[in-house]
Formats: sequence, C-alpha cells, structure tokens
Amino acid sequence: MHPNGPCTGLAAVSTALLAMSRRLEVHDVLRTIVVSARELLDAEYAALGVPDDHGGFAQFVVDGVSEEQWRRIGPLPRQHGILAAMLHDEGAERLADVREDPRFGGWPPAHPEMSDFLGMPIRDGEETLGALFLANKRHTGDTGGADDVGGPGTRGFTDEDEELLSLLAQHAAIALTNARLYERSRELTIAEERSRLAHELHDAVSQKLFSLRLTAQAAATLVDRDPARAKDELQQVAALAAEAADELRAAVTELRPAALDEDGLAATLRDHVRVLDRAHTAHVTFTCDGIRALPATQEEALLRVAQEALHNALRHSGADRVEVALTRHAAGALLAVRDNGRGFSPDAVRTAGRHLGLVSMRDRAGGVGGRLDVRSEPGAGTTIEMEVPGG
Ligand SMILES: Nc1ncnc2c1ncn2[C@@H]1O[C@H](COP(=O)(O)OP(=O)(O)OP(=O)(O)O)[C@@H](O)[C@H]1O
Ligand SMILES: [Mg+2]
Repeated sequence: MHPNGPCTGLAAVSTALLAMSRRLEVHDVLRTIVVSARELLDAEYAALGVPDDHGGFAQFVVDGVSEEQWRRIGPLPRQHGILAAMLHDEGAERLADVREDPRFGGWPPAHPEMSDFLGMPIRDGEETLGALFLANKRHTGDTGGADDVGGPGTRGFTDEDEELLSLLAQHAAIALTNARLYERSRELTIAEERSRLAHELHDAVSQKLFSLRLTAQAAATLVDRDPARAKDELQQVAALAAEAADELRAAVTELRPAALDEDGLAATLRDHVRVLDRAHTAHVTFTCDGIRALPATQEEALLRVAQEALHNALRHSGADRVEVALTRHAAGALLAVRDNGRGFSPDAVRTAGRHLGLVSMRDRAGGVGGRLDVRSEPGAGTTIEMEVPGG
C-alpha cells in the first residue's frame, strides 16, 4: 500500500494524537506536536511558536534544523511578517513560495532556505495559543536535498495537508490547554507547600529561637554573681538549641514534633510551659483535666496553637500571668491560653503581610475540624480558645 494510504495515514494521525495527549509538560507537548506535524505532512521543516505579550515568542520549537544550525540562526524570531499574520488570522495560510509573499521580510543569514509554506493557528475559542509552521513539502522518494527546493516540480502542500494540519492544531489546542492546567496545578501545590513551611517555621522554630535568646541573656547576666545558676541556664540554652534543630528538621520533612509521639500532648505542653516560665518574668502555668489521647493531627494542631498563643502573650501583652488549660470537652478537648496583659483588638490586626500568628492558628484549628476563638479587648487581657472534636 502507498505509505500515505488511508489506513496507515489514519494510524499515524492517531499515534500522533495519542502521543500528544500523554504529555504533561507544556514543552513536551509542543515538541510532540511539531515532530508529528513534520512527519505526517512530510515536510522538511516544522516549527511551533507560542506568542508572549511583548511581540516575541515565549516558546519557539523547531524540528528539521540541527542544534548547530539553530544556534547559528541566532535569537528567537519576533512576531512580524508571516509569523505575526498566523497569530492574528483565524485561518490557515498556504503559499507556493513564502519568499515571494509581500509580507516576507527576509531571514537571518544562517536560516535555512524555504519555499512552499503552510501555516496554521492553534486556537482555543477566541484565544490564539500559538501557530504551526511547515515548510518545504518533500516529494515521495525525495531525499530532502535542498537543490530542488522551490525549483520546478515542487508540489507544495495540498488541501489534504491543510485539513490534516487543521485537525492536528485542534488537538494541539486541547493538549496545550491541559498541559498548562497541569503546570498551573503543580505551581499551586508548590505554593501551598511553601506556605506550609513558612507557617511551620514561624510556629515552631522562631519561637524556640526566641526563648533561646532570652535564656542566653539570662545566663549572661547571671554569670558573675551566680555562676551555678548561669550554668543551669546555659544547659537550658543547649537543650533549646537541640529542640530548635529538631523542629527545623521536622518542619522540613513534615514530621510531628518528636515529643508528642514520645510523651503525649499534656506532658509536652507541661514541659513547654515550664521552660517558658523559667525564661520569662511572667508567671506561666499549666493545668490539665481529664484529657484522653486525641488523633495525632489534632494533638499537633493544639500544641502549635498553644505555642503561638503563649508566644504572643509573652511578647506582646506585658502580662504578669499566663495560664494554659487543657480540658476534656465532649469527645475532644478544649485549650485555653489566657493572659492578664494589655489586650488588643483582633479585628484591627491586618492579616496580610507580617503577622502570621493569628492566621496560622485559625488555619490549624480549621485544618483539623476545630474552632478558634480570640477574645481580647484593649486593657482587658486576651484569651485564645481552641476546641477540637476528638476521634
Ligand atoms: N496576647 C496578646 N496580647 C496583646 N496583643 C496581642 C496578643 N496576641 C496578639 N497580639 C497583637 O496582635 C498582633 C498579631 O499577632 P500575630 O501573632 O498574628 O502576629 P505577630 O505576633 O505580630 O507576628 P508573628 O506571629 O507573625 O511573628 C500582634 O502584633 C499584637 O499586636
Ligand atoms: Mg505572633
């Protein structure tokens, strides 16, 4: 059978379309389209350009040109002449000799010689995603030599070629749109991951470092008049530094704080409060009542919220008393962090920008099906309450 007979032709088209739809990355999709178009239409050169908004091409993929030749051609083409027309017109463009077209503006010295030309926009509804360009249709049995290009006997592209390319362009539009959506969704995942890490670092690590700094300062002031206590404080510094390192590792690898697994929520919180009580002048206390083990994610969220609420109370409120209470509540638990400090207006805190703490606490409560309450008034202290549903 003739190599371009109806059956082999259909099989080749089908293979090309399948290859296209299997690709997930935009660049791979573009490559597959160009290679398929060149093979199916038996052209010497094929290219696909995706326009940018500045009169150039965001991407320009070619097939039939060696890498060496591609380098010698120089910078990517701009949107001008026939390339531009393909991006602004809706239909195909078929020329017997592109060099004779009035829009032809010449090409750089190393550019291969081209004559017969077929261009096809790739459109998705009203939007032009790109355009396909093919040049130099080969004769059957032609070796592809440049001698007879444009010379007598050149057939140029046919109606059938144009139909085939139009079909390819329609599928290319779908494949390209899918690939873009896929890349977009991956970017979103990466952005979410970055924000998780930012919250994690904020919640765990920067607090530990804050306590560490205070403890180190305490040690420095004690070192002359009470060396024994300074030594204790320094041991505390070492312990806090080790914890900060662990938290950092956990944040990066998304592990739970190790202490939670080993000691459970109540013991971990009690330890944390004890450390803060020693490091700060405010009196920090912990009470716990009838608490049972909770699902791991809820325990972690409670710990993180307690840490941030404590951190805020110690840093912003000027309180001399801070109380942490963990109590059983239906099947779950209720956490309250209360200070007798200066209070603030929660509604007046701008959530965008620098202040991550309150936002992060809300996210964490919401993330485990819980509820967060911030009760504060200027002059009347602050209570942060978090409820989790239990397992
Ligand atoms: N217990 C509190 N007492 C008084 N003011 C508070 C208290 N908690 C929060 N605030 C006020 O609310 C603001 C927002 O708190 P938030 O935790 O969101 O951010 P931050 O502590 O300023 O910064 P970050 O937590 O991102 O390091 C604080 O800057 C502070 O003015
Ligand atoms: Mg804060």
